[in-house]
Amino acid sequence: MSQRRALVTGGAGFLGSHLCDALLAEGYQVVAAVNLLTGSLENVAHLRNDARFEFAERDICEPAEWGALDYVFHFASPASPVDYVKYGIETLRVGSTGTFAALETARRCGAKFMMASTSECYGDPLVHPQPESYWGNVNPIGPRSVYDEAKRFSEAVTAAYRRHHRVNTRIVRIFNTYGPRMQLRDGRVIPNFMWQALRGEDLTVYGDGSQTRSFCYVSDEIDGIVRLAKSDEHDPVNVGNPEEFTVLECARKVIAVTGSRSKIKFEALPQDDPKQRKPDITKARRLLGWEPKVDLDNGLRLSLEYFRKAALAGSAA
Ligand SMILES: NC(=O)c1ccc[n+]([C@@H]2O[C@H](COP(=O)([O-])OP(=O)(O)OC[C@H]3O[C@@H](n4cnc5c(N)ncnc54)[C@H](O)[C@@H]3O)[C@@H](O)[C@H]2O)c1
Repeated sequence: MSQRRALVTGGAGFLGSHLCDALLAEGYQVVAAVNLLTGSLENVAHLRNDARFEFAERDICEPAEWGALDYVFHFASPASPVDYVKYGIETLRVGSTGTFAALETARRCGAKFMMASTSECYGDPLVHPQPESYWGNVNPIGPRSVYDEAKRFSEAVTAAYRRHHRVNTRIVRIFNTYGPRMQLRDGRVIPNFMWQALRGEDLTVYGDGSQTRSFCYVSDEIDGIVRLAKSDEHDPVNVGNPEEFTVLECARKVIAVTGSRSKIKFEALPQDDPKQRKPDITKARRLLGWEPKVDLDNGLRLSLEYFRKAALAGSAA
């Protein structure tokens, strides 16, 4: 039997690069298609000499021939608030034209398809924790809408390709994930705190820090994604860690794990900052036999060396 081949759009990004590693370990040949708007070539540097790995630098919104494929994983999109606010139009484009292009590729090849969706589909949720059946509370024109609505649209297109073209689709709703290969200064809670703590700067907490977040370590997230890819579930599935922390608690944990002498400073809440976010993972537990294994203290410890090196490199830059 010939080797299975997967296309990973956004395959040099934070999650995309970890997914490439996991697919190679599963025996796939992998093509990573990336435009390097965000993420970094460094994330896949360790795969440079792996003959089963191919890197294609291109905008996935443009038509392309990829050869035979068994799976298309559509992970391309700016993902951090700093990136998607800066690249608002690009975010809307990759979440619309890019999603159509990735689905067309899957349809032509008869490949399975997975779309990387997000907890942002729930917006500032009125239901807590959020089950997949909750339709969300999203401001359609606010600063975050370029991302939230692009992802909601992508889910709609994915569901429509399944209905109309019988493409074999999966939708993963990814909740806040952290770990090695994250961009350090991308506005997300953990890299922000790590950057500040490792430089001895005060950690910036927005509002009074009582807003809650849940953080999933990257190995757990990728395990859930791979299990969903192998399953027959076509409706969205939440994959995230339901352990909930206030942003203030998280800041204190980062200070403890880094051994930093930094203090905490408070600034005004940005517009549309969600007050609570926590996945209901009943479905992932039941369908995939999945649940996270790495708690926040361990995950921070496992990430520390990466963040320390990145902070050093960033300080030198
Ligand atoms: N990291 C998280 O916590 C998280 C949470 C929810 C959802 N997600 C989703 O997971 C996916 C990956 O996120 P990430 O954290 O790895 O982001 P990332 O920014 O690290 O990687 C995204 C990659 O996509 C590429 N890209 C963007 N537009 C492109 C285009 N038009 N053509 C080709 N490549 C393009 C970027 O250059 C980058 O390499 C995204 O779809 C994101 O929305 C991530």
